[in-house]
Amino acid sequence: MKLWAGRFKKDTDFLMDDFNASISFDSRMYRQDILGSAAHVRMLGECGIIPRADARLIRETLFEILEDIEQGKVEFDVSAEDIHMNIESILIDRIGQVGKMLHTGRSRNDQVALDFRMYLRDEIKAIKALLLDLENVLIKLSENNLNTIMPGYTHLQRAQPITFAHHLMAYFQMFRRDIERLDDCYKRVNIMPLGSGALASTTYPIDRMMVAEELGFDGITENSLDGVSDRDFAIEFASCLSIIMVHLSRFSEEIILWSTAEFGFIELDDAYSTGSSIMPQKKNPDAAELVRGKSGRVFGSLMTLLTVMKGLPLAYNKDMQEDKEALFDALDTVKICLAVFSRMLDTMKINKYNMQSAARGGFTNATDLADYLVRQGVPFRDSHEIVGKMVAFCIDKGIALEDMTLEEMRSFSGHISGDVYDAISLESCVSGRMVPGGPAPESVLASIKNGKAFLDKQME
Ligand code: ARG
Repeated sequence: MKLWAGRFKKDTDFLMDDFNASISFDSRMYRQDILGSAAHVRMLGECGIIPRADARLIRETLFEILEDIEQGKVEFDVSAEDIHMNIESILIDRIGQVGKMLHTGRSRNDQVALDFRMYLRDEIKAIKALLLDLENVLIKLSENNLNTIMPGYTHLQRAQPITFAHHLMAYFQMFRRDIERLDDCYKRVNIMPLGSGALASTTYPIDRMMVAEELGFDGITENSLDGVSDRDFAIEFASCLSIIMVHLSRFSEEIILWSTAEFGFIELDDAYSTGSSIMPQKKNPDAAELVRGKSGRVFGSLMTLLTVMKGLPLAYNKDMQEDKEALFDALDTVKICLAVFSRMLDTMKINKYNMQSAARGGFTNATDLADYLVRQGVPFRDSHEIVGKMVAFCIDKGIALEDMTLEEMRSFSGHISGDVYDAISLESCVSGRMVPGGPAPESVLASIKNGKAFLDKQME
């Protein structure tokens, strides 16, 4: 019989059982459910709401059930609907009448909010750890490529020379913000809703702080209606996950481009590539493509959560059961993407020569030539036009700016002299940009140092 069947005269239809049940996806919260119940029942005993000895027996039995689940000895039952009633039924099966006291002063509405928050706490930590792994890979690659010159792009057109380290450290910043966003999200996840009851709390003299402390929460929710109907924390987490996927997806796009023969900047390791069933020569960047593609399902989960919540009156509504599948899928997806992505980056081959040659083409030192003229006293707008004409000349001749003879250069401006070649070498273009945040090796090194300090702090 169902735990709530007292007022019913008929069984639920089997189709309704299936439709209503969430055990197929919320069973993954078994640990959180049991730890939450154990804290709740200890508090019931301590506060004299149920006999202490009974509380002790319930608590011990709950831990036994936890162990049995972990050893694969427990099978959940769809007719018990969700993880909460499955655990409670198993408890009652094992210790009878005493087990029936567990749910005193509690509702599944505050219970599910509790479990979900506890589950997400652990997942936020796991995803943070994966982001930190990725950051470490980026630092390592950057340290090895401080002087690897490559073209920087705007509009995907070669723009100005930078280094590969500088490019990688741009992603370091994005993932750093992702880590900080998760930390911030965690603060709002880690608030304890139990004691909200179904919606209007309870008349029992419960001690919410005692439960919060045992379960490691930083505080308790301040309004019982909000305690059971709030899913902002889930939406926030899904937003954090979505932004992570935006970053991974942009990075994937670059990896895909860079591994084409046309770019040839990198070669992915065989272990993170796949072949074609028909074209024998193919080696495809599937790992990066899958990450780029999977961003769609994570954004979809965020949209699911927003849409589920937007029209709900206070307090709990069963619509909210839809929150879990969406968020679980999103976090599973982000975890696998991060793990694969870090490995893929860590094992790829970097073709420094191709990067450097690409930077040599495409007039990426044109700005530096204009800046050179400015240093000789030519106003920037004029120097821009002079260099524009020089570029047109070079395009006609199929040469680079630095291939022009001094006479050719001087026919465009008498301000140019022999030191121009040094001024527009790629190395000078990069090393001259040593403002904080610039691509000069010393600036990137400073940013790597900051990055390492940030990572060290995270490890504390
Ligand atoms: N399985 C439900 C959920 O995921 C638990 C809460 C059910 N509460 C209720 N009053 N039916 O949201």
